[in-house]
Amino acid sequence: EGDKMMAGRFVGSTDPIMEMLSASITVDQRLSEVDIQGSMAYAKALEKAGILSKTELEKILSGLEKISEEWSKGVFGVIQTDEDIHTANERRLKELIGDVAGKLHTGRSRNDQVVTDLKLFMKNSLSIISTHLLQLIKTLVERAAIEIDVILPGYTHLQKAQPIRWSQFLLSHAVALTRDSERLGEIKKRINVLPLGSGALAGNPLGIDRELLCSELDFASISLNSMDAVSERDFVVEFLSVATLLMIHLSKMAEDLIIYSTSEFGFLTLSDTYCSGSSLMPQKKNPDSLELIRSKAGRVFGRLAAILMVLKGLPSTYNKDLQEDKEAVFDVVDTLNAVLQVATGVISTLQINKENMEKALSPEILSSDLALYLVHKGMPFRQAHIAAGKAVHLAETKGTTINNLSLEDLKSISPLFGSDVSQVFSVVSSVEQYTAMGGTAKSSVSAQIEQLRELLKRL
Ligand code: ARG
Repeated sequence: EGDKMMAGRFVGSTDPIMEMLSASITVDQRLSEVDIQGSMAYAKALEKAGILSKTELEKILSGLEKISEEWSKGVFGVIQTDEDIHTANERRLKELIGDVAGKLHTGRSRNDQVVTDLKLFMKNSLSIISTHLLQLIKTLVERAAIEIDVILPGYTHLQKAQPIRWSQFLLSHAVALTRDSERLGEIKKRINVLPLGSGALAGNPLGIDRELLCSELDFASISLNSMDAVSERDFVVEFLSVATLLMIHLSKMAEDLIIYSTSEFGFLTLSDTYCSGSSLMPQKKNPDSLELIRSKAGRVFGRLAAILMVLKGLPSTYNKDLQEDKEAVFDVVDTLNAVLQVATGVISTLQINKENMEKALSPEILSSDLALYLVHKGMPFRQAHIAAGKAVHLAETKGTTINNLSLEDLKSISPLFGSDVSQVFSVVSSVEQYTAMGGTAKSSVSAQIEQLRELLKRL
């Protein structure tokens, strides 16, 4: 009881269930390393402010060093009364170096400590996530370069629309992910603002050198207002939002690939490494990896929604509600790291079935090209659309396809049809029309690949 860090004010013991509800050590011990980094920097600043002597500083630093070793070796003993990582580390420091440990928290609060720790943790995590994301983008781009000659139907409303290059499809997902990568970079700027030295809410009464803290902990700038610094979790919301959008993109890609891998489509075969079987039906090979990616999008959005709900209605500065932020961040960091690596694995190992893609390129997919043919003969597009529509209808009533209509049939719809109309019925010529930037012609797809390769160097 007398050991309790805040024993002065309290009489009797806390309700054990309340203690359980309040304790965050099982979650926030992931901050052990950054918490020690923060304390080391703070101890140095305390020495500079004249609160610690050189010897005291050295004692504290070597004690913290020892604790860091215990954590990394997995031998740090968490005890019942350790409420969170901050009190656990400080308790251990006192065991190791005695009462001088009690000087470390001078002018500091867990309020500025915890948000500093979380930002340090996120700085590390974000660079790992970014690396995995870049790897995925790269995998899509390089696959697109290799399989640039493969053509398949593109879909709108999940109905066959126009022929596209397989690479155009792959790159469509790569491009979306480059925006996510940019957004991750943009939020780093705001994570990189140092809160330490804000105290509980009013600031630091010891004239602590925050420039020193900033450079010791490798932040880019210093928070401007202590009350804001201990309470704002904008960077958490931003991270979870960026993560949600990234997951939505991955979910879209996963859904496309699930559909294309069904036996009904048969466009691609997923590697066994990323599938699982059925406990009942021996023939089944289920795209579990992609389904998990899709579902994790829901999970990540749930974390964002939860934090927004926690923040809504909070008064200024620190409130215990904020303790919820860490579980959300850790869960989303872990989810992104796993999902991005699995997505990269799925993309790099799947096999495409060109014959099935070709078979799916049924002639009606060239209907808009038939209209375009008439446009090139001088017909206004709206009329050409109607004429091509009539050709589709005529083919249907004759039980055939537009490419098998006779020239007479076509001429009965418009005299502008000539024998050169046969050129329309080639999927290669079709995709090669789309030479404008961003289109699915080979030249344009190659340009996209070049630009993405350039961008990847800068991301
Ligand atoms: N475990 C707390 C958290 O995660 C640390 C801050 C506690 N501060 C306080 N005034 N109770 O947010």
